[in-house]
Amino acid sequence: MTSRKHHFETQSVRAGSDLSKKNGPLATPIYQTSTFEVTDNDEQLRATHTDRFYTRYGNPTNTVAEKAIAELESVDAGLVFSSGMSAITATALALLKAGDHVVAQRDIYGGATKFFSSVLPRFGVETTFVNTIDYDQHTRAIRPNTKLIYVESPTNPTLRVVDLHRIAGIARKHNLISMVDSTFATPINTRPAEFGIDLVMHSGTKYFAGHGDLICGIVCGRQDLIDQIHEARTTFGCNMDPHGAFLLLRGIKTLAVRVQRHNQNTLRVAEFLSQHPKVRAVNYPFLNSHPQRALAIQQMHGGGGVLSFEVDGTGEDARRVAESLSLFTLAPSLGGVDSLVTIPVLTSHAMISAEHRQKMGVTDQLIRLSVGIENADDLIADLERGLAVVSPVREHAHVS
Ligand SMILES: Cc1ncc(COP(=O)(O)O)c(C=O)c1O
Repeated sequence: MTSRKHHFETQSVRAGSDLSKKNGPLATPIYQTSTFEVTDNDEQLRATHTDRFYTRYGNPTNTVAEKAIAELESVDAGLVFSSGMSAITATALALLKAGDHVVAQRDIYGGATKFFSSVLPRFGVETTFVNTIDYDQHTRAIRPNTKLIYVESPTNPTLRVVDLHRIAGIARKHNLISMVDSTFATPINTRPAEFGIDLVMHSGTKYFAGHGDLICGIVCGRQDLIDQIHEARTTFGCNMDPHGAFLLLRGIKTLAVRVQRHNQNTLRVAEFLSQHPKVRAVNYPFLNSHPQRALAIQQMHGGGGVLSFEVDGTGEDARRVAESLSLFTLAPSLGGVDSLVTIPVLTSHAMISAEHRQKMGVTDQLIRLSVGIENADDLIADLERGLAVVSPVREHAHVS
């Protein structure tokens, strides 16, 4: 973990840039080039280990984004990838070998679940999935060949909060690498390295990029691990395109103010929904009713921009609510300035069995909102109108 020089609002805008630079462009230029010219062959040899050799290895625009990310997460170094999934897969393949074992939480992102449960076994790496908040189960799952403990916090779509300090402690005790998917938290709300986590991963597609116009991934953390992952990224060819890195950098400049607004709006929406007669339950870390609220307050500066809630009705009602909203666009993904709505059983969790979904708390009535940075009163008014379509279940029961 590295120490922090400035506050997060300042870091968001200025991190990664060389503050002593003079007579240069204010915005980071896009090095839209696949290769770099050298003066002679000695120079060529020196360039091989820099970001001015060949863009699959590295690129100066990407380097600025990587430095900014490492600074925001208070870690040694960072890497950008062509997607969040390529960040996860390249990291796992860089650090694991046949015969190794992984402990992962049950609630992790569906794509990661698929990779750990059906791709890695083909390469001789097994994963045990454990109850997300039962830490004794995590410890019991550890074997002599366990190498990695993989978690996600807060989780999608039920917003469980994972005790990162405990996970880091378990990893240290058993000599494991700890890795967290911190996409929902962002470094503005939680910096996992401060709790002792070795590697932090993000789907940069979400809050880092922030405008719903980019797919990218991020891994950052300990230098020795980042060096190994860098080599894998080069071999697999999943570095980010420099034009995308420019857009990512542009997003990072407003990350702090956007996330603060997401936090405020989402808490307001969560409080509104938790009082609504047609809502059965609301999942949001900073709500009084959240089972891990105390942990969330201790570990997070804000509850984030995603919540989920169950309508007091049927799955059909939930679908009708989602379709009747106008400011919440019916679309997968999250973390952008525009508010979005999805039904997890139809999107992110469609491939998971009904029984497994039930265990995770993902019901047919569950709706997930990614709350944007619009005016909270407008968003609440939209939800009020949308929820009017829920059938009055109880009254019907009385009439019949
Ligand atoms: C929590 C989380 N992790 C990882 C991913 C994968 O990221 P990407 O879609 O950028 O590959 C997603 C995508 O939705 C996600 O929500």
